[in-house]
Amino acid sequence: MQISGKSFSSPQQLRTPCLVIGISSSGSLRSTAKAIDSATDGLIAKLKKRGDITGERGNTLLLPSVPGIAAERVLIVGIGNGALSDADFRKLTQTVLGTLAEQKLEEAYWLLDDLNVTGRDQNWQLTQLALAATLREYRYTQTLSKPKPALALRKLFIADATTSAHRTAISRGIAIGRGMNVARRLGDLPPNICTPSFLASEARAFARKSTQVTAKILEEKAMRDLGMGALLCVSAGSNQPAKLIVLEYRGGKRTDAPQVLVGKGITFDSGGISIKPAAKMDEMKYDMCGAASVLGTFSAIVELKLPINVVGIIAASENMPNGNATKPGDVVTSMSGQTIEILNTDAEGRLVLCDALTYAARFKPAAVIDIATLTGACVVALGKHASGLFTNQDDFAAELLAAGQQVGDRAWQMPLWDEYQRGLDSNFADMANVGSPGGGAITAAAFLARYTKDMRWAHLDIAGTAWDEGAAKGATGRPVGLLTQYLISRAQ
Ligand code: BES
Ligand code: MN
Ligand code: ZN
Repeated sequence: MQISGKSFSSPQQLRTPCLVIGISSSGSLRSTAKAIDSATDGLIAKLKKRGDITGERGNTLLLPSVPGIAAERVLIVGIGNGALSDADFRKLTQTVLGTLAEQKLEEAYWLLDDLNVTGRDQNWQLTQLALAATLREYRYTQTLSKPKPALALRKLFIADATTSAHRTAISRGIAIGRGMNVARRLGDLPPNICTPSFLASEARAFARKSTQVTAKILEEKAMRDLGMGALLCVSAGSNQPAKLIVLEYRGGKRTDAPQVLVGKGITFDSGGISIKPAAKMDEMKYDMCGAASVLGTFSAIVELKLPINVVGIIAASENMPNGNATKPGDVVTSMSGQTIEILNTDAEGRLVLCDALTYAARFKPAAVIDIATLTGACVVALGKHASGLFTNQDDFAAELLAAGQQVGDRAWQMPLWDEYQRGLDSNFADMANVGSPGGGAITAAAFLARYTKDMRWAHLDIAGTAWDEGAAKGATGRPVGLLTQYLISRAQ
């Protein structure tokens, strides 16, 4: 879809299949609505008076043909009264885009002036609109014999958004949306296609398309030589070999310390010998959504050519229970030298991540963020709306929370106090891989904290946010928005 700003002289002269205008719920008509009203012999005022349009927020009326103006159709959207919140604006955007999609319109012209969002400028609106429109393009088609029809909308013009700052704002929304769609596609793919080797080949193919990105794949042999006993004890029970995927994007100066993203890439989590119950086990194909968000974020930052260095590390493995599988009671040695007693083979995410985090240190990172569908407990705590955020530095939390808030991909900070460490004590190793009951999302983070002591580190538990269930079942592309917005802020 082409999304771009376009200048215009008067609304009534705009030649477009669909002109989108706003109308408030009280008072007289202003600016655009007024111009259309005078060009149509008072049609808008009449419809308002009759109650066909209320102007209430979210109320819409599509006029399929309007004499007196150049546009073929006019979509009138109620914008209510007073300033909008972030959520109001997003809802309004969805309403408009939903109507355009339903009507199968190929082109539209967004002329919603008078939209005042509290604390947000026009550029914020442009990014949000471009993001929402781009997300609508996503279709899962890979394993369907009859592909779903594509979104009809090919061109979305936005009135007067023609400065270079406007263009930047639009391009950010598009890049984040595309990055999220990359992550959604990988997440939605079935686990017999999306294996660790598949993720490795996707990363390689991605790197080949950009001169600024390189991909390196560490095979199990190389991981064994590095002493990654924690990561390898997870892949032990699978016929699919684990892959450690290392992406490097160099947009900054050679000497700039990189931001490092570490993604959990369990392409299927059966639980291993501590096998999961059958219900909803298919959803454990989404256990690689952390990895997918790393690839999605890379897609966005490459498209935006951010002047920053970023390393992406993906710990890709299956968690399966074959005859070589790790058993409860086994003790393994991680790359850091710390030993781990495996009490539950279903707590595998922290095992692949701890070695990937130890490996991250060699890049002398400015900061490290790991992203993981780590615990069911995080879903219990926060539900589907917020990702769990844990960090060893509170100012880092503030930065990440603000990024998520800005882009509409929110996280919520959880505690990471020392008291939670005791739950991981083991009589037979330096630590156990599961904690005492209660606060499961926190003890999982506390485990990771033991591997990131010397780094500026944050952990995002996306178990609740990475995919939707029910009729809208599918990957969400989160937290590509939060991560990309954070990197945009870092690059400024
Ligand atoms: N991938 C799961 C976490 C998960 C479960 C995410 C359900 C989303 C929905 C993770 O590997 C896991 O199994 N965690 C266990 C940890 C427990 C054994 C300490 C969990 O949450 O039950
Ligand atoms: Mn598990
Ligand atoms: Zn898992």
